[in-house]
Amino acid sequence: MEKRLEGKVAAVTGGGQGMGRAISLRLAQEGARVVVADLKREQADQVAAEIGAVGGEAHVVEMDVRRPEHAQAMVDAAVQRFGGLDILVNNAGVGKIIPFLETTPQDWDFMFEVNCKGLLWCSQAAARTMISQGRGGRIINLASQAGRRGEALVLAYCASKAAVISMTQSMALALAEHQITVNAIAPGIVDTPFWEEVDRQFARLHNLPTGEPKRRAVASIPLGRIEQPEDVAGVAAFLASADAGYITQQCINVDGGNWPG
Ligand SMILES: NC(=O)c1ccc[n+]([C@@H]2O[C@H](COP(=O)([O-])OP(=O)(O)OC[C@H]3O[C@@H](n4cnc5c(N)ncnc54)[C@H](O)[C@@H]3O)[C@@H](O)[C@H]2O)c1
Repeated sequence: MEKRLEGKVAAVTGGGQGMGRAISLRLAQEGARVVVADLKREQADQVAAEIGAVGGEAHVVEMDVRRPEHAQAMVDAAVQRFGGLDILVNNAGVGKIIPFLETTPQDWDFMFEVNCKGLLWCSQAAARTMISQGRGGRIINLASQAGRRGEALVLAYCASKAAVISMTQSMALALAEHQITVNAIAPGIVDTPFWEEVDRQFARLHNLPTGEPKRRAVASIPLGRIEQPEDVAGVAAFLASADAGYITQQCINVDGGNWPG
């Protein structure tokens, strides 16, 4: 594989499974040293071991993006262990399928605390270090096709991902003078543990057998197959690379053609 990220240091939140795992592996394969940050230590350790097994370097930080001091600790770990930070991937995210009228303050706060506030704390901590290093940087946010439109049973999650797209735009403008680019990726229906849970929740609400909501969702994807975490990882690596140096403030749909915008 081409080593476009040789000499770079990356941090990936939610790096312990799903897309975060695939992104961590891909960035490492392209030469970056990677801080794998996750709530779940054991899973993050496994990803670090996978990176080590292919000759890469990784460091695990157990953290909760909702805590600003944990976000800072993640960045400090990158600096102490690898000498700096060039790439932040804000991948950690949570979602819940709930009818509009049953959405509680706790549901709303949970999704916004992780998907938006957590993203802000991690980006602030990373940007401060990138600015002081004076060599630019990359921030890549995981939005969603859910941020492009509303869904009757997905109000809070859709709103949180629309906010991620908006935050990407504001951060890109705030950080452009420092040559730090900020972009987002909007995946579609990705084969990760996240969609297993989404499937169970849709199945319960629609009184369908488990697996049926996912089957129907996949059947409507123009490219005709479920998205793999690696589909997203390749785009994240591109956005982190010199090839994407003149791209900022964008949200790239990586969804098999689900959404045209
Ligand atoms: N799976 C999909 O179909 C899909 C589609 C579009 C967007 N997304 C978004 O992509 C991102 C990754 O999704 P995924 O499917 O890989 O999810 P996943 O649930 O499989 O994995 C998420 C990871 O984030 C970690 N995490 C959760 N909350 C955290 C917190 N507070 N602090 C630190 N780590 C935390 C989890 O421990 C887990 O390892 C999320 O932001 C999600 O909203 C997912």
